[in-house]
Amino acid sequence: MLLDGQIALITGAGRAGKGIGRSIALRLAKEGAKIAIADFAADAADAVAKEVSEAGGEALAVYGSVSSVEDVDKMVQATVDRFGRIDILINNAGITRDNLLVRMSEQDWDMVLDTNLKGVFNCTKAVAKLMMRERKGKIVNMASVMGIMGNAGQANYSASKGGVIALTKTTAKELGSRGINVNAVAPGFIQTVMTEEMPDDAKAGIAQQIPLRRLGSPEDVADVVLFLCSNASSYITGQVIAVDGGMVM
Ligand code: NAI
Repeated sequence: MLLDGQIALITGAGRAGKGIGRSIALRLAKEGAKIAIADFAADAADAVAKEVSEAGGEALAVYGSVSSVEDVDKMVQATVDRFGRIDILINNAGITRDNLLVRMSEQDWDMVLDTNLKGVFNCTKAVAKLMMRERKGKIVNMASVMGIMGNAGQANYSASKGGVIALTKTTAKELGSRGINVNAVAPGFIQTVMTEEMPDDAKAGIAQQIPLRRLGSPEDVADVVLFLCSNASSYITGQVIAVDGGMVM
């Protein structure tokens, strides 16, 4: 197994059913990692933890918001209390509040930046201190192709994901000498609750613009995250890997 005995904290993994975080939790657990599922949706976090256990893995649900320093400290502490350390951090929690820039409320701007960008800062700061002591660690940040290309109607979301990419590179530079790899994954259109509400003809239209002619699955993303958490990627840091069927190249 690729991650035997490793401890992974995955934020936003509490979307039972279709979330990318849930797929990552199941994939890493299958490779022997023990998983802390961090989410403010307590019932869903419990459900995913149960799913991981039923698949033969070991999981703990920890509850709170990544945008609160206090909550993050508690979730990190609960993980360390149970598993002893954290080897892998997946900053996956993310939200959208779409609107055209001129109509976007300050509240929607703040909420998206607080979750998608400040959340990554909060979790990285708390976990990096522990990893620095161990002199090893893997951090994977969930960006988006929208953070590279921009997208009309998503000023807040694209800015937050562009920020995640810059934060990934900076963190990689600061933590590389401590044996910590920091990379980002930039998914394109992935079939999850976030994209499921789109009409079928809109999805078919999008697929036509993608060189591989299909939307991605959460498992497509989870496989790349697994690679970035494993020793197979030990000489890779500060990179942004697009998982988008070739949309952005
Ligand atoms: P999702 O909405 O299915 O899951 C996000 C999870 O984050 C939910 O369980 C939610 O409860 C949790 N969450 C939200 N705010 C939180 C907070 N403040 N504290 C703790 N947990 C919080 O989203 P999905 O589609 O699985 O996306 C996961 C990540 O991948 C996000 O960062 C998203 O921006 C990114 N992404 C998704 C794409 C897609 O097509 N679905 C494309 C590109 C990036």
